[in-house]
Formats: sequence, C-alpha cells, structure tokens
Amino acid sequence: MKTYKIAVLPGDGTGPEVVDEGLKVLNAAAVKHGFKLDTETFDFGGDRFLRTGEVLPESAAEDLTKFDAIYLGAIGHPDVKPGILEKGILLRLRFELDQYINLRPVKLYPGVETPLAGKSPEDIDYVVVRENTGGLYTGIGGLSMKGTPNEVAVQSMVYNRYQVERCLRYAFETVRKRHTTDAPWKGLYDKDIEDGKIGQLTLCGKTNVLTYVFDLWERAFHEVAQDYPDIKTDYCHVDATCMWMVKNPEWFDVIVTCNMFGDIITDLGAMTQGGMGIAAGGNINPEGVSMFEPIGGSAPKYTGKGVINPLAAICSGSMMLSELGETEAADDIEQAVASVTGTKLKSMAAGRMGYSTSEVGDLVASQIA
Ligand code: IPM
Ligand code: MN
Repeated sequence: MKTYKIAVLPGDGTGPEVVDEGLKVLNAAAVKHGFKLDTETFDFGGDRFLRTGEVLPESAAEDLTKFDAIYLGAIGHPDVKPGILEKGILLRLRFELDQYINLRPVKLYPGVETPLAGKSPEDIDYVVVRENTGGLYTGIGGLSMKGTPNEVAVQSMVYNRYQVERCLRYAFETVRKRHTTDAPWKGLYDKDIEDGKIGQLTLCGKTNVLTYVFDLWERAFHEVAQDYPDIKTDYCHVDATCMWMVKNPEWFDVIVTCNMFGDIITDLGAMTQGGMGIAAGGNINPEGVSMFEPIGGSAPKYTGKGVINPLAAICSGSMMLSELGETEAADDIEQAVASVTGTKLKSMAAGRMGYSTSEVGDLVASQIA
C-alpha cells in the first residue's frame, strides 16, 4: 500500500486540537482511497522552548526533509515574547526548507457567512500565491544609534530575479492547474475569459512607489507571461487589490504577490471567506518538502476548550494530499467540508459552531466514509 511519511508539528495553543481533527479526516480519506499515512510527531513550539531554552534543534530542517510532507498546527505562545517562535520555528523552516511559495486559497464555502454583502460562493473563489522566502522577511537591515534621538532603523525589501521568476512561474502554473485539473481548489472562474484564455493571473504590487522592487517583478511578470499565452494577465497595486477583494472578489482568479503584501492580503481574504477558522494554506517547495498549516494562529484563549474550528486545519490537510498527488482524496475532503458547512455548522467562529472541535472532525470524517 502506498504510504506517505508525514511529520506532524501540532505546536502551540489550539494547534494540537485542530491537528487531531485534521489527522482524523486525513486517515478517513486514506482508508477510502487506499493509502496510508505514517506520522511522526515533533514537539516544536512554546512549551518545548520554555522547558529546554531551545527554539528549534539545529538538525530540524534536515530531519524534516526525510518526510513527504509536514502538517503543522500553530506556532505562538502567550508566555514567549512575540517573534521568537514565529521567526525561530515557522519562518526558519520556511526558509531552510526553501518553501518559496505560500499558497492560500480564498474560498467561501456554502453556508458560510461572509461580511461582503451580496457575495456568494461563486464570487469568492480565488488563490493567492504569496512569495514566501524573500522580500521584507529576509531580515536584512539593522539599527544604528539605538536609543538615541538619532536612531535609524532599516529593513529592506530584498528580491533577486531568480526568486521572483520561480514564484511567477509557479503562479502561472497554478492558473493552469486550477482550470485544467481536479485540484481541490480548482476555480469556478470562467467568466469574461477572452479568446482562448483559460484563466487570469493578477500581479499585486506597488509599482508607483516601490519603483525598484516592483519594476523587477513587473518586467519578470511580462517576460514569463510570454510562455503562457493561454493566461490573461492583470496588474493591481496592493491598496487597490484590497479594495477589489472587498468590492469585486469575483474579478480574481489567481493573485501573485510578494511576501509582505501576501501576508496582509490573505488575512483580509480569510475574513471575506468567513474567518481564520476556515482559512487554509500551504508553504510549498515544489521540488522539496512542503508544510501545510491553517493560517490562523494558536488562539491561546480557546486552548483546551474544544471550541476551536478545525476546518482550516482539515482544508490544509486536503491541500497536503493534493500536493502529494492524492487529488481524489483531497477533493473528497473538500466536498465533505462543503457539505458540513452547507448543512450543519451554525457559524465558523470558535464556540459558535453548534458543535465541538472533535464533533466537527467527526462530521467531516463520516461524510468521507
Ligand atoms: C502567517 C503569519 C506569519 C507571517 C507570522 C506568524 C510570522 O502571519 O503565516 O501569515 O507573517 O508569515
Ligand atoms: Mn499572516
């Protein structure tokens, strides 16, 4: 039987609770589709750090390369200064494993309430391809004359052509995949397609102010686009992107953007799809090991209460299966989630679902079986 080795990083706060439900659903899908998940759990997170003083073992990234995929709950602990765990675990793994894409679908599931008046699941269904290892996140910069009135702080948005180009190519491929295969996050987008175009890629930038970095992005975008004559290209400044994500989300198919803008716009996107409880993502190295995580945080105030929504973790599990090539199983999970949101859950918000965390996992798992 086909077996996938999965590293499980439950992490902090509600991470372990949602990961348990994700694994419950993943195993149900595995049984049905005839494969096995061989999991090994790692205790990286705030508790381990407070106990041992070590954020991440030196060998962590290398050890993780022996797995087929990584399934992560959440990182962030109320007793640890903000930044230590995020930088020391999450960002470090993204960088060391060269997970240069952060794939974040923005999808309104049936029955889920969106704050966007008059918008339905057909309108809110696009994917953000966030560059995941460069830009402002590289940590290049520094402080000088700290603590004096003359203090200077610099943090640079750093991109090289190679990083930009590989991200753009991935984004163009994502458009193709979305419209020509059964990826679980395949698009409903089939409106306004011009002569022979199958879908659309929007570059989200800030060419009017960041005239160096986005000059590079924009030139690379148009050059790479030559290889994808079947894809319509579009450009939006990041501020306008936010506006359209609220006003006309149906205009988007796939959005590609830099690390920082991608971080910001996907939180906005998550809210339009019903909140952090349902927003999934994948840190992808197309040539290596990818790491899948719900995009919400560790939600310390809900920890251990059994009220957190596990659907984001479940949907990231589906993305993981899709990346592993188990697209039918991935699609099954997606459909089970859609059926549960459409017919059962009262709300996506923690404590207001009408079911406990594990009951929601049971509902999805039983749909699959
Ligand atoms: C995310 C998070 C992280 C990021 C933080 C926790 C470092 O906000 O995954 O979007 O900024 O990438
Ligand atoms: Mn974020």
